[in-house]
Amino acid sequence: MQRINELLTEETIEASAWKALEKSILYYKGRPVGTVAAYDVSVEALNYDQCFIRDFVSSALIFLLKGRTDIVRNFLEETLKLQPKERQLDAYKPSRGLIPASFKVVSDNGEEYLEADFGEHAIARVTPVDSCLWWILLLRAYVVATKDISIAYQPEFQTGIRLIMEICLANRFDMYPTLLVPDGACMIDRRLGIYGHPLELQVLFYAALRAAREMLICQGNQDVIEAIDNRLPLLCAHIRQHYWIDINRLNAIYRFRSEEYGKTAVNLFNIYVDSIPYYELDKWLPKKGGYLAGNVGPSQLDTRFFSLGNLMAIISDLATEEQAQAIINLIEERWEDLVGDMPIKICYPALESEEYRIVTGCDPKNIPWSYHNAGSWPVLIWMLTAASIKTNKPYLATKALEIAQTRLFEDEWPEYYDGKKGRLIGKQARKYQTWTIAGFLLAKELIKNRSYLSLVSFDELPPELISRACEFEIGNVDRYMSR
Ligand code: GLC
Repeated sequence: MQRINELLTEETIEASAWKALEKSILYYKGRPVGTVAAYDVSVEALNYDQCFIRDFVSSALIFLLKGRTDIVRNFLEETLKLQPKERQLDAYKPSRGLIPASFKVVSDNGEEYLEADFGEHAIARVTPVDSCLWWILLLRAYVVATKDISIAYQPEFQTGIRLIMEICLANRFDMYPTLLVPDGACMIDRRLGIYGHPLELQVLFYAALRAAREMLICQGNQDVIEAIDNRLPLLCAHIRQHYWIDINRLNAIYRFRSEEYGKTAVNLFNIYVDSIPYYELDKWLPKKGGYLAGNVGPSQLDTRFFSLGNLMAIISDLATEEQAQAIINLIEERWEDLVGDMPIKICYPALESEEYRIVTGCDPKNIPWSYHNAGSWPVLIWMLTAASIKTNKPYLATKALEIAQTRLFEDEWPEYYDGKKGRLIGKQARKYQTWTIAGFLLAKELIKNRSYLSLVSFDELPPELISRACEFEIGNVDRYMSR
């Protein structure tokens, strides 16, 4: 009897989630083109009545799994039209190749049109670097789900992919294979000390390069394809090596010398030992666990754990098999810190006191253990689920869903939760946040059928590309090991 009640409850929750997801669908000229960020009538909409590219990914994936491919196709076609195709002379305008952060349907004299926002209307005016990367990943997911690559082969789509690759692979000042970006250019879209080379964007960049490589037609794209083939192995090796933190690596960094010059330097980024919270990490790192650091740059190693980057590194096969196991092991061992009462914290730990004030600029929304500053974001459940399945620990996904589902339903699908254990509904969280709803439904489907992983995951890089990882990088791995 008790089991029947449980089943009924689960069904009720799922049904309620589906109903809310349907309600969030955005129509343009009578066709479904996306989902609004939140459908919460109790508060002012601000820009939550728009369709955000990154938010739509979870909705799109669940629609694809359910055979509702039309909405995803419409979305891909319409957002592609919003991508600037000409070189921009006005430096205040979005550059060629960018995909907007969000768009909305506007009516003028009975005519509907789409208005894009490239960050101009967002609070911190930051360009959304992740949008174009998510867009490529979604296009590939559409191709995988429909088993029909013809959409990607259409000339407009080939141009769209090419322009995104051009903006990502453009000549630039820095000499790393990673992407240099401003603060707040991704899911964390306000100041949080993630300028430079934040993990989230590097992982999405890697996955987008892989997806673009699969979908670009050789003819006419030889130069871009060659640039991708050159970049991929370097990017992969760079992240696997320089972002990795486990107890062995921490030991190595702990004994780093600084101010080394020339080619024999071991401390390649000139990390000053005192900038690393050794004693916390010494306690926190499990024996068999590890993770990819939040950011690596000149004298900078951000040791915060960022969930999206680490989970997507597993899913996209950027992390090695061993690293993937170590990351998921760390999540399991540090469950109370990272998951607690609501899966899963966007990052850990929070920036507190003076650090919070300096790094966030005293942002009242990002106070410690709130919002982007170590708040819990239920949308990430689908990535936690996918990563758990990929590393053969599906029971972690089941556990996460058990913790989340009744609460999410009773709390009306909040955007985020606050607190060290994630027990407080986010101070300024919207209710009926679409990616919370879709992320939950997606996690449920992934648990039921692990083959759905193919929509978002990749296999190991082809060996001929790996062998291109330059000797410089490999030489440094050896030097780390021999210290
Ligand atoms: C907030 C989030 C951002 C999200 C948007 C819409 O600005 O930081 O990641 O895309 O809300 O939900």
